Amino acid sequence: MKARTLDGKTVAARIRKTMTEEVAALTARHGRAPGLAVILVGEDAASEVYVRNKKKACVDCGIESEAFSQTLPANTTQQHLLGLIAELNANPKVDGILVQMPLPAQINPETVIEAIEPDKDVDGFHPYNVGRLAARIPSLRSCTPYGCMKLLEETGIDLHGQEVVVVGASNIVGRPMALELLLAGATVTVVHKFTRDLQSHVERADIVVAAAGKPGLVKGAWIKPGAVVIDVGINRLPDGSLTGDVEFAPAAERAGWITPVPGGVGPMTITMLLANTVQAFREHLGDAP
Ligand code: GUN
Repeated sequence: MKARTLDGKTVAARIRKTMTEEVAALTARHGRAPGLAVILVGEDAASEVYVRNKKKACVDCGIESEAFSQTLPANTTQQHLLGLIAELNANPKVDGILVQMPLPAQINPETVIEAIEPDKDVDGFHPYNVGRLAARIPSLRSCTPYGCMKLLEETGIDLHGQEVVVVGASNIVGRPMALELLLAGATVTVVHKFTRDLQSHVERADIVVAAAGKPGLVKGAWIKPGAVVIDVGINRLPDGSLTGDVEFAPAAERAGWITPVPGGVGPMTITMLLANTVQAFREHLGDAP
């Protein structure tokens, strides 16, 4: 392997250490800890793991989560969930509200996201927060793209004018990722399921961000020598192992930098959720830097 590893675990641990100290100081100064409500509806196995990890990360850095979090049954009505969100919106001890996606079919995710007060939308999914990013005045930023930007910072590469190809156009990753990169001065192409020639786009990219959720979609042989490869995909194979959207071994022979899966983008997403919660807390207290 020729590429240098963009090690999300190490970067995340460094950011979390600093944040834990910051949370302790803020908690002492204001007499309460930051509060994050994590809401899970139903019994999706992957979501249960994500939610458990998010709550544990809160405990580890001094954010109060257990007191406000709830797991609701799969047959929960949209009206009930909206009632709970209204209560959390009104609770001054709650700085952030996260409703884990996907939701059961009877609940409309857009309605739920729009019900969360934008200043408590620590996922950065509310159209207000996406719009702030599009208008170059970001507030709470979507966690995964925000984490990818932190990883790109680690390379020391100036993003101005870099050719970046984002593979995938989802609301959670691809779209806000493109907006982050545009804000940073990159030349951004978003490719998606209707794109005619994925290979030709990837081949000319200085930076590839793969977020399609399709194992091995991006072939290692397509990677431009020296390019940066950020693999957001977390796909479970039939043998139980995790793999990204990029063919790792051949890509690592060509790339200058590459994220592993697991241990690349994954740890950064939760870290930026914590960072958003601390930012919301500071803003609620009038103690933003
Ligand atoms: N489901 C998959 N990723 C996410 C995320 O970042 N936030 C929420 N709320 N749900 C998700």
